[in-house]
Amino acid sequence: MSNEQENVVNSPQVENGEDGDFVDPWNVVGKSDSGVDYDKLIKRFGSSKIEDDLLDRFEKITGKQPHHFLKRGIFFSHRDMHRILNDVEANKPFYLYTGRGPSSSSMHIGHLIPFIFCKWLQDVFDVPLVIQMTDDEKTLWKDLSVEEAMKLCYENVKDIIAIGFDVNKTFIFSNFEYMGQAPEYYRNVIRIQKCVTFNQVKGIFGFGDSDIIGKIAFPAIQAAPCLSTTFPAIFGEKKISCLIPCAIDQDPYFRMTRDVAPRLGFPKPALIHSTFFPALQGAKTKMSASDPNSTIYLTDTPKQLKNKINKHAFSGGQPSVEEHRKLGGNCEVDISFKYLTFFLEDDAKIEQIRKDYSSGALLTGELKKILIDTLTPIIQQHQERRAKITNEELKLFMTPRKLF
Ligand code: TRP
Repeated sequence: MSNEQENVVNSPQVENGEDGDFVDPWNVVGKSDSGVDYDKLIKRFGSSKIEDDLLDRFEKITGKQPHHFLKRGIFFSHRDMHRILNDVEANKPFYLYTGRGPSSSSMHIGHLIPFIFCKWLQDVFDVPLVIQMTDDEKTLWKDLSVEEAMKLCYENVKDIIAIGFDVNKTFIFSNFEYMGQAPEYYRNVIRIQKCVTFNQVKGIFGFGDSDIIGKIAFPAIQAAPCLSTTFPAIFGEKKISCLIPCAIDQDPYFRMTRDVAPRLGFPKPALIHSTFFPALQGAKTKMSASDPNSTIYLTDTPKQLKNKINKHAFSGGQPSVEEHRKLGGNCEVDISFKYLTFFLEDDAKIEQIRKDYSSGALLTGELKKILIDTLTPIIQQHQERRAKITNEELKLFMTPRKLF
C-alpha cells in the first residue's frame, strides 16, 4: 500500500491554487517565468516526488543508468512506482499505458517526451505498451468532425511509430476503431461509469451543467485501458498492473481511476509524471500544437526551426552583450537552455553550458545555435523514419494481437 494522501476529488478552485498556477487536462498556465511550481503541484495532487532512493532502486534493479529525464527532474513525480519495482523484483508482469489526443496533423517536439520515455521503459523492462489515440476526445472537445479526428489520428500514429517502438511489444489503438473491435473495452467503460457520479467528475474535471454529455462520460474511456482485460488479445483475462507515463496534467483521469480500479478487482494504475514542455515564448504556458509561433513541429524544415528559435525562444540573457558578460544569463527562465535539458543527453556538456551561460561567457545567440544544432538532426531523422512507414506497418501496430 502506498501512504500517499490522494485527493481524489479536487475542485477547479483547488487546482487553481493560491499561487495562481492553473493546471487541468486542457489548460496549463504558470504565474512565474520559470513555469509551474511543481513541488506545490505534487502537494496539491497528492502524488510523490521522485527522490534519489527511487532512482537508486531503478539503477539497481535494471542495471541501467536512469534516463536523463529522470536525473534532470523532467519526470519528477509518481504514484506507486515502488510497487511496480517490487513487481519487477518478484518477476510479476506489468504493462505500460500512454496516449495521445490527435488534435493537429503535425505533432510537436514536446509530444515526443512521454513517448521517448515510454520507449526507454519498454526497452529496459521488456514489457508490452498500449497507446490510446483519443480521436473521440478531440471530436468532443475541439471543432473537429469524427472523420477529421480519425484522419488526424492516423497521421499522429505514424509520428509515434517513427519514435522507434518495437512492433512485437506495442499496440496502438484508435478509440473509434478499437471500441468496435473489442466488446471487453466497452464493458469496462460501463463498469467504470457505474462507479463514478456526475458530482465526482464535476469535482475532478470542472464540468458544468451545460457541458455536453460526451465530455462527462469520456473520463471512463481514458480510464478503461488501465484495466488489463480491455485487451483480451494481449492479456487474456489476467488482471495485471499498469504503469502510465504521462505529463502531470493527465493525473486527474488517473486519480479517478485509482479510486475505481480496486472496486472492480484490479490493481490501481501506477503513474510517472513529467513536467510540461514549455512554449517557445516562455515557461508560463506549455507548447501547444494550435499556436504555430509557440511551437516547433516535427514537420518543420531546418530553416523554419532556425528562424523560430532565433525569433521566438524566450531568452534569459541580458539586453546588451556588455551587461550579459557582466551579469550572465538566467538558465531558470531561458527556453533554449530548457529545451537542451530535454534533448541534449550529455550531462557534462549541459553542465558546461549552464556554467558558461550563467557566467556570461556564453551569449544568447551562441546558446541558440547549440540548440539549433542539437534539434536539427533529431527532427530530420524523425522525418526520414516517418517517411518510410508503410500502411502495412501502420496496420500491424494497430491490430489487436498477442504481444511478446
Ligand atoms: N488525453 C490525452 C491527450 O489529450 C491522451 C491520452 C489518452 C493519454 N490516454 C492517455 C495521455 C494516457 C497519457 C496517458 O493528449
